[in-house]
Amino acid sequence: MTSGPCIGIATMKPRCSIIIGSSSSLIYGFSPPKSNPSAFHNLSKSQAHMSIDRSGFQFCVYDKAQPVGYTCVLNRRGFSLSGSNRDQSWGFTRNFRGYKGRSRGVLVISNVASDFRNHSSSVEANVGEKGFERIYLQGGLNLNVEHLVIERIETGGEVVKEDNSGVQVDESGVNIGDLRGLNLNEKKVERELSKIEKDAWKLLRDAVVTYCGSPVGTVAANDPADKQPLNYDQVFIRDFVPSALAFLLNGEGEIVKNFLLHTLQLQSWEKTVDCYCPGQGLMPASFKVRTAPLDGSDEAFEEVLDPDFGESAIGRVAPVDSGLWWIILLRAYGKITGDYGLQERVDFQTGIRLILNLCLSDGFDMFPTLLVTDGSCMIDRRMGIHGHPLEIQALFYAALRCSREMLIVNDATKNLVAAVNNRLSALSFHMREYYWADLHKINEIYRYNTEEYSTDAINKFNIYPDQIPSWLVDWIPDEGGYFIGNLQPAHMDFRFFTLGNLWAIISSLGTQKQNEGILNLIEAKWDDLVAQMPLKICYPALEYEEWRIITGCDPKNTPWSYHNGGSWPTLLWQFTLACIKMGRLELAQKAVALAEKRVAVDQWPEYYDTRNGRFIGKQSRLFQTWTIAGFLTSKVLLENPEKASLLCWEEDYELLQTCVCALSKTGRRKCSRFAARSQIHSQL
Ligand code: GLC
Repeated sequence: MTSGPCIGIATMKPRCSIIIGSSSSLIYGFSPPKSNPSAFHNLSKSQAHMSIDRSGFQFCVYDKAQPVGYTCVLNRRGFSLSGSNRDQSWGFTRNFRGYKGRSRGVLVISNVASDFRNHSSSVEANVGEKGFERIYLQGGLNLNVEHLVIERIETGGEVVKEDNSGVQVDESGVNIGDLRGLNLNEKKVERELSKIEKDAWKLLRDAVVTYCGSPVGTVAANDPADKQPLNYDQVFIRDFVPSALAFLLNGEGEIVKNFLLHTLQLQSWEKTVDCYCPGQGLMPASFKVRTAPLDGSDEAFEEVLDPDFGESAIGRVAPVDSGLWWIILLRAYGKITGDYGLQERVDFQTGIRLILNLCLSDGFDMFPTLLVTDGSCMIDRRMGIHGHPLEIQALFYAALRCSREMLIVNDATKNLVAAVNNRLSALSFHMREYYWADLHKINEIYRYNTEEYSTDAINKFNIYPDQIPSWLVDWIPDEGGYFIGNLQPAHMDFRFFTLGNLWAIISSLGTQKQNEGILNLIEAKWDDLVAQMPLKICYPALEYEEWRIITGCDPKNTPWSYHNGGSWPTLLWQFTLACIKMGRLELAQKAVALAEKRVAVDQWPEYYDTRNGRFIGKQSRLFQTWTIAGFLTSKVLLENPEKASLLCWEEDYELLQTCVCALSKTGRRKCSRFAARSQIHSQL
């Protein structure tokens, strides 16, 4: 769905929004009737701290250096709720109460899609076939410790103080008291903070960006020597995730809440790239807080949040992953702080729905995977990952699992919830069946017949065996396997992409056996994937003609550099999470120890180059925030492995059953039921 006309508009167009506020509260839920905006113009700013935003969607007014009022946007979410499904329950009053209400059930909430907040380990009800029981009862982490307190004890007699929110912090701002908002009666873990960690906390805090006096995110890099920061001085959605987790795990929820709120509002921008409007649910890749004079005055100025939806980004890449990360972070915020009220708010529910609508809209697709352009995720330049790249699929799966937990079921959402469930089942089946590669599967591909025309084809995508790359033949270990990078008609991208494989583990996109297999492969191929700096973004690098054709001769993505086989320390936190989930703590410890030896000395580079990750990347930023935050998050998780359960998913038996039922109803019984069974049995 797009909003508003866009013919002839050549750049991103800020919406004219009404802004209202007070220093202590935000009020969302209605926007002025479009037909009569003048009613709002007529109010003076000082009267009601109300103003029309003509330069940006959100702003905050200052008088000289002093904020005259904390202002916020009344966005159109309350109004945009139209149609039979919403009007019965969500009028203005309800929106308003929905925001203000702290307790659940203020809105007309009939149910929550699935109460995953209290995981059940029971499987009998959902498992009909023996094969399922055998495979999915194989254990794995099932920790339900929701709220732990991390108490960090400083040695050396450092002073303990309180920050302005009442959290006990040490000199680097680390929470050494109780986690705010968390259940305080639970296990306490004591540990000593190393010098590197203290420095890292300080750097992370220095990277915090404020808007109207409140923290709202962290800049991508804070390198004082960088003369050309490009957009590294912005808050990137994906980059903020490890920062958010570090803060959350340290008991600091405010910055994350603010981030979620403000990015939610940016989602509603009417955006155009040349004459074209991308979908309404699109989340920006990044945003910047800009300062602008207010009404031409040099006495007062305003802060404006200025998002980039890809219209300024190098290559004009669409940030498909931003919305997925936003949903993942929203769920993590609820799980860690216990503040589920945020995700239950009308505006947040609408935000989730807009993102899902974009992802689930009908197209020409034959597959349940998301079809995207090149550069639509962490790899945001041309790297030959257009189509159905693993990273997007794994994040999509995780975001759908989050949505399944967070969506409130009512008449308005029941179809969406059903679509989410169906997509989850279909997606996991597709990925497990067709993306998985191990020695056995590669041997099968090696012997494929081609040009099979029938619904019973074994080689469904018409893969020609000659495309199995020579490096893979020797590289694939006897034990273990991985999800390949991409799958299209007659094309398999056999490169190993780390982020997608780690998220397959974290979200349980893979089966238990596949997830174990991925870690086995990383262990077996440690010298290639971890080497001297965890972890390679992908393996192997594109070289020679392939590099020329696929990257477009990109000098930043030369072989074994940056996205093309470079090593990215930020991947460490996801590796740590995956290892903890699979009970392989020692692997994560080894990787973190390796990083710890170098990252701080090297001034927290964005990435490393060379086959072994030996050199700091040739164009690498220093003091890269997600390197710092990823390291801190890994450390906290290693110290408190129980926390991992708040950020991971176990197998969902309901979804598996949906998949089997769907397959058996397709009329392709022979092929499909056999496929379902074979998928399961092959994992045993
Ligand atoms: C680079 C990375 C991207 C990251 C951005 C900011 O463009 O490819 O993933 O979000 O830098 O750090």
